[in-house]
Amino acid sequence: MSNSTIEQIQYLKEKKNAIILAHSYQRDEVQDVADFVGDSLGLSREAAKTDAEIIVFAGVHFMAETAAILNPEKTVLIPDLEAGCSLADTITAADVQAWKDKNPDGQVVAYVNTSAEVKALADVCVTSANATAVVAGLDQDRPIFFLPDMFLGAHVEGQTGRKLELWMGECHVHAGIGEREINKTLKDHPNADFMIHPECSCGSACLYLKPDAKMLSTEAMVRHSQSSDAEEFVVATEVGILHRLQKFSPQKKFIPVKESAVCKYMKMITIEKVRDSLLENKFRVEVVPEVADKARRSLEAMIAVG
Ligand code: 13P
Ligand code: SF4
Repeated sequence: MSNSTIEQIQYLKEKKNAIILAHSYQRDEVQDVADFVGDSLGLSREAAKTDAEIIVFAGVHFMAETAAILNPEKTVLIPDLEAGCSLADTITAADVQAWKDKNPDGQVVAYVNTSAEVKALADVCVTSANATAVVAGLDQDRPIFFLPDMFLGAHVEGQTGRKLELWMGECHVHAGIGEREINKTLKDHPNADFMIHPECSCGSACLYLKPDAKMLSTEAMVRHSQSSDAEEFVVATEVGILHRLQKFSPQKKFIPVKESAVCKYMKMITIEKVRDSLLENKFRVEVVPEVADKARRSLEAMIAVG
């Protein structure tokens, strides 16, 4: 990466009244040129309130789609259209409709890691940061379909005591962070605080291995590591977050449970592609208005929970 690429990005951002939003799993250099870095919830909020005319979304497709749904009058660009999500791809709108047909009084809770068509059929969206609060506030007497991540769903069940119908989807990156790796890392760092993303497959095993383990969204990991007295942190999630954790707590040590926990979709976005995206206004992410209007309702229902 050359300085001139960064300069070009700064120039184009100003000239075009553009903003770059980046997820915490993005490459370090992409995070560094972004105006805002955060988790899915923070990025949705930022997308909803920005005055910029163009949003370049350095993240995966469902996140850019979310920004487009919340900002129908703005141009939302993703630097690489191939940046998808294996978890979002596990469920289609037809799958959700089939459940709704069988459960006419049911409530559908969709993790933001879903397509716009799936969101359009949901009552409310959630992210890993607010799933428990949103589900706790739902009607107690009606069935709840939680999709698509079964591990996040199981975590929410444990937190709320509510019985949920779970879609058996998983993220290949987080599902691949297993008990064996965790056990070894915790043995090597017995005094470290242990932070784990709820998409990981080993939630209950983790609590057994370390009862004070903290199940946190990516942004909650940043906040927790800043306020905790611990000097070492074992981190179970995609490794891109380490850049952000280290940036805010340079004197602390962060140890990934699995160095190879890398989301290839997130890493498809490079700084050169961010520059080209700004330069050529590509690739525009658009959602058909009928779908966007319905999906916006479930996203706004989520944002309203706070
Ligand atoms: P967050 O909601 O914590 O940002 O996670 C999004 C994601 O894609 C996790 O894999
Ligand atoms: Fe999707 Fe998993 Fe990548 Fe997150 S880490 S974007 S859930 S594939």
